[in-house]
Amino acid sequence: MKLKTRLFITFVSVMILPTIFTTVAMYTMDPKQVGEMQQMFLFIIFVTAAFLIFWIYRAVSVPLQKLQEAARNIKEGNLDFELKYEADDEFGQICRDFEEMRQHLKMNAEEKLQYDRENKELISNISHDLKTPITAIKGYVEGIMDGVADTPEKMDRYIKTIYNKANEMNILINELTLYSKIDTNRIPYNFTTISAKNYFDDCAEDLSMELESKGTMFWYHNEMTEDSKIIVDTEQMRRVISNIINNSLKYMDKQPGKIEMTLKDVGDFVQVEIKDNGKGIEAKDLPRIFERFYRTDASRNSSKGGSGIGLSIVKKIVEEHGGNIWATSKIGEGTTMCFVVRKYQEVPIDE
Ligand SMILES: Nc1ncnc2c1ncn2[C@@H]1O[C@H](COP(=O)(O)OP(=O)(O)OP(=O)(O)O)[C@@H](O)[C@H]1O
Ligand SMILES: [Mg+2]
Repeated sequence: MKLKTRLFITFVSVMILPTIFTTVAMYTMDPKQVGEMQQMFLFIIFVTAAFLIFWIYRAVSVPLQKLQEAARNIKEGNLDFELKYEADDEFGQICRDFEEMRQHLKMNAEEKLQYDRENKELISNISHDLKTPITAIKGYVEGIMDGVADTPEKMDRYIKTIYNKANEMNILINELTLYSKIDTNRIPYNFTTISAKNYFDDCAEDLSMELESKGTMFWYHNEMTEDSKIIVDTEQMRRVISNIINNSLKYMDKQPGKIEMTLKDVGDFVQVEIKDNGKGIEAKDLPRIFERFYRTDASRNSSKGGSGIGLSIVKKIVEEHGGNIWATSKIGEGTTMCFVVRKYQEVPIDE
């Protein structure tokens, strides 16, 4: 019951009803009986008032106590409690709002913890990935200084390895710089409205030449029912496609490698699917491949190289285009990467 209603009932019970009864009694009873009635009335008013005050006090004090306890918990940094107070009055509403606020705070605290954990992991991964080529470079340079590379062929091999390792570091640092720029929104997007078909047709043409020269079979299908316009940063979208294709090439374990790209119309979105016949990804890894630094092979010293940043960059770019990305895969059979880009909807101009 609402506090307002409780106060109203109290007012009616303590003030109005006795006044009506007394007035009626004064006109209908003889004066002697009225005196006795008045005494009885006073007693009834006293008991009723006491009961009603207790009734209101309980309605206020119980939720207040719960709120006080909840506020103390939050002050002490404890967010693992539940504020339960089911009543349909004003205090019930405050308690429900307070409980919602606690849940939000808890979610934020957990997100922050997760973010801190990821950052620590990021730093440790970066150190590891940079340390590996540096150790190798140091080893080969020491070899040269100690005269181990005593033939021109050996010297040539040592220098080539040093060059390759330095290149690996350079690629990693460039990727990291790009990732941090994308992550902190420091890359200005240059969006243009273009025909989805024209854009992806061009991409497919470039890809077909590039992949053919590498001995990989490539097909392109356009299943769009009509030509829709999309708003894209053409350069960043190319990066998305080339990252996905590079993965298909990198994790290809069959001869010949086959890659198929399909463009589909799905309501408000244009869907792009890139399917390969590579080694596939285990179901348990699928939801995590878009996390930064996540790689499916446990060892970070894999011969495939790669730092696990590629798909996190792809995800970020697709999301900046109002889209979404996901993958399906079957181990041994291949992987399909799907992403959607929102169509450009022309707003009709009122005449
Ligand atoms: N087409 C694919 N086939 C099989 N596994 C894949 C494929 N694409 C991605 N993966 C798996 O997902 C992981 C994450 O991919 P991502 O592109 O983010 O990182 P990476 O290729 O290891 O490194 P980077 O792209 O930064 O050089 C990869 O390590 C790989 O294990
Ligand atoms: Mg990659």
